[in-house]
Amino acid sequence: PHLSLCVTASDFEKAAKAVLPHKSYTYASTSANTGLSLKRNLDDWGRISFRPRVMRNVGDVDTRRRIFGHSSPYPFYISPMGTMGAIHAGAEPEMIRGAVRKGAHVVVSTASSKSSEQIMQCFVEEQGRLKNGSPTELFYQYYMPVDRQKAIQLMSIVKSCGFKGLWITVDTPVLGKRTADRYLQAEEALAVGIAEESTAGWEAGGDNAFAPAMGGRPVQGQLSPHTTWEDLEWIRKEWEGPIVLKGVQCAEDAKLAMEYGCNGILLSNHGGRQLHTAPSALMTLLEIRAYCPEVLGKLEIFLDGGLRDGNDVLKALCLGATAVGVGRPFLYALGAYGTKGVERCVDVLAEELQTGMRLLGITSLDQCRPEMVNASRLLNE
Ligand code: FNR
Repeated sequence: PHLSLCVTASDFEKAAKAVLPHKSYTYASTSANTGLSLKRNLDDWGRISFRPRVMRNVGDVDTRRRIFGHSSPYPFYISPMGTMGAIHAGAEPEMIRGAVRKGAHVVVSTASSKSSEQIMQCFVEEQGRLKNGSPTELFYQYYMPVDRQKAIQLMSIVKSCGFKGLWITVDTPVLGKRTADRYLQAEEALAVGIAEESTAGWEAGGDNAFAPAMGGRPVQGQLSPHTTWEDLEWIRKEWEGPIVLKGVQCAEDAKLAMEYGCNGILLSNHGGRQLHTAPSALMTLLEIRAYCPEVLGKLEIFLDGGLRDGNDVLKALCLGATAVGVGRPFLYALGAYGTKGVERCVDVLAEELQTGMRLLGITSLDQCRPEMVNASRLLNE
């Protein structure tokens, strides 16, 4: 379909499905187990409603937001997603060029198809190409290698490349069960005549399915099931910048993150790709508001999962989020249209956000308040 027919962020999925190889689309779209976590992520945003105010002079609206002091025109950033080379030949640089042209921040995955150095180089070049520069900054998503020496080595690369913050993914001690990937593997095996049941090779699936072919770093080898809160102590010695724990899913861990000196938490269930029937980020945010609201004032709060409309973003901000991550829509946009699709996806969300703010009765994101949403339906569960 023509790019102009992508009117909502969800439309990019249809476009990507139509053009991507089945294996690539499966990698992007798969979720864990029966798919319930992903479905809840998508549904929960629609289960809370706004409480709009009227007659408030909403002629001019300002959607700017800061992440650790780095201003962006938008309160959403592109979530880290591995192996973009499986989705578009231009891989991460293609995605980042689109983000830079629009000024959106990006969190770069450890499992990227390109090296951090290549990604940074493309970022700097694109910045240089723009007459007035771009507010875009890159942050780094860190899968902690099992080997401490390798972990420190990776961190020094991240430091020397100039990433502005470390998003440590903590919801992935092992890969979740990626059901669609399993069907695909079984179909591929059947096609070449291997019909006997085998679970060999499952470990290497998921986020890692494309890594060897794309020159990316193998992920499963890097995931460490042994990580504990104590690891934050040596990480803090090696990394002076902001630390965000990606994948916090309950109030107790939000509090621990604060006690261990993290600068932010990202409420996430990994796009429904990890624990079966994990809470949506919205549920976790409501839990934190109820049981440890002090965390909201102390840490920067991010969340992701199932955000498909600028109004979802607005709801998250009303409930206390600093900014939110959007994942698959950008990946699908990249797959179907490359850089132009990424730019369009930013525009779609930004326009919905602006309209939402006006209809809600606010002109700047500082005016977002919890009483602007009614979450009683979700709270009563
Ligand atoms: C991811 N996600 C992810 N997270 C992470 O910390 N490191 C990674 O390498 C990846 N890779 C990855 C690949 C693909 C194809 C997807 C869809 C997701 C999770 C991602 O950062 C984010 O948490 C979710 O994608 C957010 O949900 P939505 O917006 O995709 O619904």
